[in-house]
Amino acid sequence: MAADRLFFSSRLTTRRSVLASLAAAPAAIWASRAAAATADLFPPGFSWGVSASAPQTESWDGRGASVWDVFAARPGIIKDGSSMRVCTAFDRLYRTDIGLVAAAGVKAFRFSVAWPRVQPDGKGPADAGGLDLYERIVDAMLKQGLEPWPTLFHWDMPAALAGDWRDRDTAYRFADYAGAVAGRLGDRVRHWLVMNEPSTVAVMGYALGLHAPGLASRAAYLAAVHHQNLAQGLGFQALRASLAGDRRIGTALAVQPIRPAAGGAGNEEAARRFDDAWNRVFLDPLFGKPYPARFADAFERLCRTDDLRIIAAVPDFLGVNYYYRIYVRHAPATPLGALPSAPPQGSAVTGLGWAIEPAGLAEVLLHLQRRYANPEIVVTEFGAAFADAAPRDGVVDDPRRVAFIRSHAMAAGAAIAQGAKVRGLFYWAPTDNWEWTKGFTAHFGLIRVDHRTLARIPKRSLAYFGQCARRNAVV
Ligand code: GCO
Repeated sequence: MAADRLFFSSRLTTRRSVLASLAAAPAAIWASRAAAATADLFPPGFSWGVSASAPQTESWDGRGASVWDVFAARPGIIKDGSSMRVCTAFDRLYRTDIGLVAAAGVKAFRFSVAWPRVQPDGKGPADAGGLDLYERIVDAMLKQGLEPWPTLFHWDMPAALAGDWRDRDTAYRFADYAGAVAGRLGDRVRHWLVMNEPSTVAVMGYALGLHAPGLASRAAYLAAVHHQNLAQGLGFQALRASLAGDRRIGTALAVQPIRPAAGGAGNEEAARRFDDAWNRVFLDPLFGKPYPARFADAFERLCRTDDLRIIAAVPDFLGVNYYYRIYVRHAPATPLGALPSAPPQGSAVTGLGWAIEPAGLAEVLLHLQRRYANPEIVVTEFGAAFADAAPRDGVVDDPRRVAFIRSHAMAAGAAIAQGAKVRGLFYWAPTDNWEWTKGFTAHFGLIRVDHRTLARIPKRSLAYFGQCARRNAVV
């Protein structure tokens, strides 16, 4: 098979070119021998981290309602009928999770600040008690030698902001909130993320009705894109204005390669359209390019003077969340004229049926390197849910997750070998969390959480990922 040939013929070439060729190879090639080759690829200070969010881990005690509380309360929306009432009770048990993650050797912990905890009504003075919680969380991380990486918006908009992202004013409310958080945590946090996956919010929440706030409208999608972009730009301004010294401010985008699904007329064009709608309407203006031509007229109506200048924040680093390639089919009656569909038959998949495609990560990193003038990148999320075995002797054996981590870390190494400036790799997630509409049925964690007792049990993947972090290499 071509991939085997590629691997064996490259044995005589340099380590870097081996890895470069791996970037293009199918998953089967991520074999043990190549791991050794990544040994000194990851630059010193590379951030091996874990990534989580407030709405999926914190209880709702002490915060205002979010749009996700409202959406999840609709009958039949959440697979197991669960709510965000408890999640993993991270707001109470954060010391346990932080302790386990730090003891394994992991270097950084990405979490999110809940806007409705800081501003229960979405505006007005910040709630001091809400900010206190994040100060305690940050201090607990620092004490354990874990670098805190807060994200300011991970989808949990205060429900009180009734106009949500359709309303331009929400962008200004977000900037106020961002300034309040920076004012409190700015003296001890170096790395910041303004937003998380605005594409998922706009496409799933406003165009396809599958996430909060449950709208299925092209106009709502367009407004959600533009106003999130604007909020992000204003958020960068607020952080830059209030943070002194050597601060690094980024934002986390879901960057997924888009492919046409097999065998349907119009799928190629649908894939190009979806690539614009998912990737480029966020990436291009962030890096100072105009909105993609297919959408230019639509956004023209929403853009005011100066918007594109504000949106072009040019981050200190780009956060990239990568899960899989999206296969798209032509769907003319839907708001974007395209819909995601199943991966190709025969793909290796996770427990959620998501294709396992580590080469897609290298593809994304190299694409960003070329298209956006080689930005500094941190992979702020990658991860997989599997139906894990029951714990034995106090540990969960999860070899598929270990293999998944390994192959993706190697893919990142392959992109670094070709010059991509990747500075960190964050596994989603430290614990089994509340996974949006899947409730507690999807287990991504390095640590098992029993959702009745809240007991934590480490999985072998935690020790494995910690080993990579300690050695700064794929082991
Ligand atoms: C996202 C979110 C996470 C998810 C994770 C697994 O990227 O969708 O950041 O909240 O839980 O991606 O689906």
